[in-house]
Amino acid sequence: MFLKVTEVEHYTDTLFRIRTERLQTFRFSAGEFTMIGIGDNDIMRAYSITSGPYDEFLEFYSIKVPDGPLTSRLQHIKVGDELEVGHKAVGTLTLANVELGGNLHLMATGTGIAPFISLLRDPATYEAFDTVNVYWSVRNIAELAAYDQFLKEMPIKYMSIVTREKWDNSKRITEYVTSEQLHLSPTNDRVMLCGSMSFNRDMTELLLNRGFEEGSRKSAGTFVLEKAFVG
Ligand code: A2P
Repeated sequence: MFLKVTEVEHYTDTLFRIRTERLQTFRFSAGEFTMIGIGDNDIMRAYSITSGPYDEFLEFYSIKVPDGPLTSRLQHIKVGDELEVGHKAVGTLTLANVELGGNLHLMATGTGIAPFISLLRDPATYEAFDTVNVYWSVRNIAELAAYDQFLKEMPIKYMSIVTREKWDNSKRITEYVTSEQLHLSPTNDRVMLCGSMSFNRDMTELLLNRGFEEGSRKSAGTFVLEKAFVG
């Protein structure tokens, strides 16, 4: 389907956000992704939806890949243009795939924050857990621009991490976990991961060593990650 673009905001040379109108018939669960493209060729890519399931708009957060087949063109999209959006949304980072209750920890690197923005726009997330905690790791301060204010305003514990500039929290998420500054136990904690392949792999290993079990559509677990995410 083709949806009219209602907002475009650029944050850095490499990061931007697009909003489109939404059709009532397009349903999704918070945390899912869909395919998007610009319609004049066959290239569509999987993008997490950052809007909430009850919002009247769809929103996507994107990097600009130099010479990237889609993003080199997508970055020039303007208000009033049309964005091609797939007919269905899928994904593992949904409330249905994690055991509910206890403390929820949403851990992202870079644009991996996208599905969590959607989950934080869904009231069900706050109802399902005692506490909601977000850890967002980026290389540079400027990369926090799109959602830093939003995250500060939510009823959550939010830790922004900047690893390659001076910042209060500058260690990698994995280091907070290994050093036990952040203690995670499968009894009380639920973890959702979305980031680079190496981040997902390293965190998965740490969680499995602590007795966490990966959830999927077949059975809910104490942690989940999005394998389709490339950021
Ligand atoms: P670092 O600066 O120490 O590499 P990237 O742009 O490479 O995807 O990284 C985004 C953020 O994720 C950076 O803060 C980066 O830290 C961090 N990061 C990258 N790989 C890992 C990993 N394997 N474990 C933990 N954090 C990671």
